[in-house]
Amino acid sequence: MTKILNPTLSLMVAAVMTVGGALTVPLPAAAGDEGKGAAGHAHDLSNVWAMARGGQLYDNWMAVLEADKPKGTHPAYPKAGKKKGASTWRCKECHGWDYMGKDGTYKSGSHYTGIKGVRAMVGMDVKKIHGIIMDKTHAMKNKIPHSAMEKLALFLSKGQVDNDRYIDRKSKVARGNVKRGAAIFQTACAICHGFDGKEINFKDPPKAEYVGTVCKKNPWEGLHKIRFGQPGVAMVALAALDIQTAVDVVAYCQTV
Ligand code: HEC
Ligand code: HEC
Repeated sequence: MTKILNPTLSLMVAAVMTVGGALTVPLPAAAGDEGKGAAGHAHDLSNVWAMARGGQLYDNWMAVLEADKPKGTHPAYPKAGKKKGASTWRCKECHGWDYMGKDGTYKSGSHYTGIKGVRAMVGMDVKKIHGIIMDKTHAMKNKIPHSAMEKLALFLSKGQVDNDRYIDRKSKVARGNVKRGAAIFQTACAICHGFDGKEINFKDPPKAEYVGTVCKKNPWEGLHKIRFGQPGVAMVALAALDIQTAVDVVAYCQTV
């Protein structure tokens, strides 16, 4: 974790992204990255990595950046909303795990804000998106460093998927191949989460929340975390693989 936060490394990322002109290279939602960095080495930090990092920042930038949590509720969080405090500063809290804001899973319930989603950003120029995140409404200008803003913008432009293609909104069932998902889970996830998915409990006992619980209750969150990783902890991200692979894993996780 701390290695990634190393300022020299962040600068390198900024350099790769601007000097290499990498931001103008079209990036399929979850394909391999053919781009080379400024120095032309294949092992330079890739666009896919930067995009995945942006996905984690969208989830919880405070945890990714190991930043102090802002005091109080976000100024743009509506009075009618049910949340308060630092969690209202997470992008996902206003714009949703399905990126659809008030038109998606947050159209009602305890996460309702009435704020629109970020789907309109797909394919948009990242500089333009950067400008939006830096605006007064968001009040993040002094909280999220430039290089992290760039990654967020990259995620919003190139990393979002149309969740309704992969998760049935009504039944919450992921449209994936459970058998294939099992093989991926057993080889890539079980080492930490256990073959039965019960090795890590995300809640403090006696409460219990496992991979399976998340994927069943909130498959949109599950898919997001499986593609980009869990902020602030050592977990793999499947973003470099095709989207169907991640969906297959969600489908399998719904059975454990
Ligand atoms: C407290 C609520 C809140 C949080 C947290 C929040 N936003 Fe927003 N966001 C808004 C509001 C309000 C708008 C303006 C919506 C409108 O114009 O109707 C907006 C608009 C946007 C838009 C433009 C969408 C469009 O179609 O015009 C983007 C992009 C965006 N936010 C990105 C982010 C990112 C990235 C984060 C996290 C760093 C974030 N937001 C966190 C409230 C929030
Ligand atoms: C190197 C260990 C490791 C690997 C490998 C790993 N994870 Fe995780 N995962 C974690 C840790 C640690 C957490 C956070 C636990 C916590 O917050 O208490 C986590 C969290 C999660 C969460 C989010 C829980 C929440 O808070 O909503 C999901 C979903 C998840 N993992 C699924 C997977 C899947 C699927 C794979 C395989 C593709 C995987 N993980 C691989 C360590 C790992």
